Amino acid sequence: MPRRSLVVVANRLPLDDNAAPDGACEWRRSPGGLTGALHTILQQAPATWVGWGGGPGPRLPNVGSVRLRPVALTADEQRGYYEGFANSTLWPLYHDAVQQPVFQREWWDTYRAVNQRFAEAAAEVAGRHAAVWVQDYHLQLLPRMLRELRPDLLIGFFMHIPFPPPELFMQLPRRVELLHGMLGADLVGFQREQAAHNLAQLARKLLGAEAADHAIHVGPRTVRTGAFPVSIDVSEMSALATRPDVVAHAGQLRHDLGESKRVLLSVDRLDYTKGIEHRLTAYRELLRDGDVKVRDTVLVQVAVPSRERVESYRDLRDRIEGEVGRINGEYGRVGEPAIHYLNQPFDRAQLAALYRAADVMVVTPLRDGMNLVAKEFVAARGDGSGALVLSEFAGAAAELSTAFLVNPHDLDGLKQTLLRALEADPADLRARMGAMRRHLAEHDIYAWARAYLTALDHTGRLAQRLPN
Ligand code: ADP
Ligand code: G6P
Repeated sequence: MPRRSLVVVANRLPLDDNAAPDGACEWRRSPGGLTGALHTILQQAPATWVGWGGGPGPRLPNVGSVRLRPVALTADEQRGYYEGFANSTLWPLYHDAVQQPVFQREWWDTYRAVNQRFAEAAAEVAGRHAAVWVQDYHLQLLPRMLRELRPDLLIGFFMHIPFPPPELFMQLPRRVELLHGMLGADLVGFQREQAAHNLAQLARKLLGAEAADHAIHVGPRTVRTGAFPVSIDVSEMSALATRPDVVAHAGQLRHDLGESKRVLLSVDRLDYTKGIEHRLTAYRELLRDGDVKVRDTVLVQVAVPSRERVESYRDLRDRIEGEVGRINGEYGRVGEPAIHYLNQPFDRAQLAALYRAADVMVVTPLRDGMNLVAKEFVAARGDGSGALVLSEFAGAAAELSTAFLVNPHDLDGLKQTLLRALEADPADLRARMGAMRRHLAEHDIYAWARAYLTALDHTGRLAQRLPN
């Protein structure tokens, strides 16, 4: 068989909304794990990327070896499909319902119609027997729709966010259709084994399917499932963190923050799953109790704006900004805030400098499919210094097991862990960091894509296009 071509379908193209103010196009990655990961791989592998360009209409040329196929969304579709069903129903439900999911019947029709439009776009650009790799919860109906349009295709689906246990999934009014949608794929990939187990349980319960953790029988077809933990471009981040301008910028940051201070850093999309409020409460109590003092410790909280048209995200931003203001008002001193709060996007070099400048990286989501920020921090610490405080509920915790693992719901535990990390012995930190760096060196983004694509086509030929 001739070599299969590759089509990736994701809600977003890897460009943020303002990427082309003068009509010129540039690869500018939008914040978020999914686009970052795929952007890295596809820059080096000829493929077509079907996705939404962020605005209302098509406008994008091709970029490098990647052909972009924009899908236009009307304002109503953005509301019903993206802000509504994807980000107000599925997103909170799949993240352990840490925020109450909203079920609005009219969103479903839009979600289905937009999935159908993406399926048609993918069917149109995919060559005969192409492999089509569908990404994430926005497009959960697409695999089945695409199979109906193009039975010749090899179809993969990867869920970047957690996939919940039956107790939660069963709440969904359109649960059977959603399951059938995913099971249109030949291979359904998750971040963690538990998710594959959840899917098998649901297929048995809701569809009466014969299902084991790695194989689900749907009519005459067998759908394979498995865990493929996503990662980062480790060598890119390592190299960036040692670039002279980044080293100089990190030094400047340390100087500006106060040379002798211990620096805690958090970098998140401003999302209620990231546990920012719990973290701020813990930090406020540490200040209140005198366990940390503004004169020798500072927290830098980067919180890039996200999904701001969704009410729960706007409310969250108001609450966080109010709390940061309260903490600084109460504990800050002139020229010495307790928390530096930065609600802005940064480029990769600026992020690398922040990672380099920190003593303790605090990554405490209430639930997270993976969390690439934790991996980026580890990759940026070539000298083996620095502490990572990591939530047990981030997918990354399964791999970065020598981090300071913490349950972010347990405020006392969180406070104690922050203090342990701040006061840890440098030799202990180096041993922990060394183990995490060794793991990442073997498990970078290319290894992820290679493992998934090899499992998808069995032959390894799809993966051959990726750099070694
Ligand atoms: P999620 O995908 O839920 O946003 P991840 O931690 O997996 O969470 O991925 C976030 C990605 O977004 C990381 O690659 C990180 O570097 C990037 N990012 C986070 N904050 C910013 C920011 N302020 N500016 C630019 N990129 C950011
Ligand atoms: C998570 C999701 C991605 C999404 C990203 C940013 O990583 O898994 O699918 O792209 O968040 O969110 P946004 O809504 O801005 O695309």
